[in-house]
Amino acid sequence: MIAALIGAAIITGLGVAYFNYELPRLRTAEQIALGRSVYMANCAQCHGAQLEGQPD
Ligand code: HEC
Repeated sequence: MIAALIGAAIITGLGVAYFNYELPRLRTAEQIALGRSVYMANCAQCHGAQLEGQPD
């Protein structure tokens, strides 16, 4: 029982630590620029260069 609680606390701690480490790295300027080029190449012909979508 105690061991399970300690195990759960460790796993929760690792999860929190992981997200604190990972979240700030999710959207760097480099990734945003990459997203723009992917969008321009694959999506803009239908959704528009300014993300405007289509009428109706
Ligand atoms: C061939 C034209 C076309 C291309 C290319 C295209 N889309 Fe779409 N997209 C559509 C259409 C049409 C809809 C609406 C579909 C529906 O609602 O049934 C849609 C819907 C969407 C939606 C849902 C929007 C909403 O309000 O529900 C998203 C998100 C989306 N597209 C993202 C993308 C992304 C990201 C790309 C590029 C990787 C892309 N689309 C490429 C035509 C396209």
